[in-house]
Amino acid sequence: MKSTDKCDRVIELARRRGFFWPSYEIYGGVGGLLDFGPLGVAVKRKIENKWRKFFLKEHDFLEIETPIITPEKVFQASGHIEHFKDPMVECTKCKRKYRVDHLLAETGISNTESMNLIELDNQIKKKEVYCQDCGGQLSKSNYVQTMFKTTIGPFTDNIGYGRPEAAQGIFVNFKRLHEVMRDKFPIGIGQIGHALRNEISPRQGPVRLREFTIMEFEFFFDPTDPSCPRLSEIEQTEITLVPFTSRKPVLITVKDALTKKLILMEWMGYFMALSQQFISELGIPPEKQRFLEKSPSERAHYSDQTFDQEILLDRWGWTEVSGHAYRTSYDISRHIEISGVDMSVFKPHLKPIEIQEKKLIPNANALRRDFGDDTNKILQLLKSEDLTRVQKQINEKGSFHLGKHTVTKEHFEIKTSSKKETGRRIIPHVIEPSFGVDRLVYAAMEFAYSTKEDRVILSLPKNIVPFDAVILPLMTKMELVEETKKIYTNLQKSGLETYYDETGSIGKRYARSDEIAVPLAITIDYQTLDDGTVTIRDRDTWKQQRVNKDELVALIKNYIP
Ligand code: GLY
Repeated sequence: MKSTDKCDRVIELARRRGFFWPSYEIYGGVGGLLDFGPLGVAVKRKIENKWRKFFLKEHDFLEIETPIITPEKVFQASGHIEHFKDPMVECTKCKRKYRVDHLLAETGISNTESMNLIELDNQIKKKEVYCQDCGGQLSKSNYVQTMFKTTIGPFTDNIGYGRPEAAQGIFVNFKRLHEVMRDKFPIGIGQIGHALRNEISPRQGPVRLREFTIMEFEFFFDPTDPSCPRLSEIEQTEITLVPFTSRKPVLITVKDALTKKLILMEWMGYFMALSQQFISELGIPPEKQRFLEKSPSERAHYSDQTFDQEILLDRWGWTEVSGHAYRTSYDISRHIEISGVDMSVFKPHLKPIEIQEKKLIPNANALRRDFGDDTNKILQLLKSEDLTRVQKQINEKGSFHLGKHTVTKEHFEIKTSSKKETGRRIIPHVIEPSFGVDRLVYAAMEFAYSTKEDRVILSLPKNIVPFDAVILPLMTKMELVEETKKIYTNLQKSGLETYYDETGSIGKRYARSDEIAVPLAITIDYQTLDDGTVTIRDRDTWKQQRVNKDELVALIKNYIP
């Protein structure tokens, strides 16, 4: 019997027609790992390319590719070693492990992400949650690190991790890329690639994976000049926001959300509006989307504000498809601190400005006389002090304390002179939109899935379909097959993605192409041999029209945006 659950039906279609299926299927599969077959790869590549065009090319952002294997020190600097953890419980009888917040969410308890271990344990007790397999008692919760750990080199203790995000590859390269781009600023840098998260017990098929493809970009900007010059293009866009303070959805324009400080940064509002459009173009309408703000305890350690862009899925409810984080200067500052490499950006003023500069003029004789060998140390310490503060204290109290030493106006002079300043050094701040591709393939398929007269139609948007058209001989007569193959070769050579199908009745072949989202079916019949016309059938309307075979390339290219 056919499942009535839409998710099951999409997954069945995906498996049967070669979109995706559980990896290592012949050995029973491995939770959280997914294989993409030829049709799935085609859809995935098209979504990736659409993202590239939509976000990177449109804004002249750069794209890079960096390794998945990352040395430990990078994640020490980024804070992932300390923070990339999930709460876990174990069945005391059968030892099955659960991610506690997800387990509780399944029993209808919300906001579990913000609970600490004690609160999670209390909820387990209060709601009488037991092992779903054997009914056994659950252990107390504890945090487990969810990055994949390895060594870099087989016989070393050089620890490495599989990256859980592509972002760090961008942060560690910021200085080089900024130089390569001849100091372009603000600057966006993106990356598409695999990321690994050793999820405790992923049970949501294509929606929660241990290895997945992430598309993310980091937008570096000056925090003292945070305005987005393209805001006017989208400020009237309405989005559904769920602020963490009220937890109530509100339909609001990006402009109003910024004015009311529901969104902190203009660039963030700009990218959120674009993301809504991007997801809509995958066939998921804005009314099935929302932006859920994470509370301070739910946010990642690096973020001052985070919205999860969520879509409403049939089985899994509101599900994150992208995250929008205001990462401030957190990552760059940490990498500067730990690597010692200066990654600040020199920002020239439009015109040089005159500034008052204070300079320390030491009195070497007096310093040596009073401090002997400590003189140099004292000078170093003095230079790192705020000279205005030093001067004020000396004027008011006659002396200034530097650790165990006390200096007076005998030891130095502070002179003020004016100077032209051509610019300033700043540590860039970062807005990060980050998308998971694999679940977007699933989501686009779920939204495209419908049935008509008991047949499945996958109405994927035409620019993310695995094939542009199918080419069919009406019957397998030699003269029709020959003509069909000629037309097929011609279409392939023109750069269109098509396939040839001669197996089964024409009705069956149409049905087969509808369920893999092929927008157009081209049929060659005896009339083609007489007058050079073919029939062209539309996936969504099932309407047919006759067109000249010489017009096909232009016609299909026009139809597929
Ligand atoms: N970089 C986005 C994330 O870690 O979720």
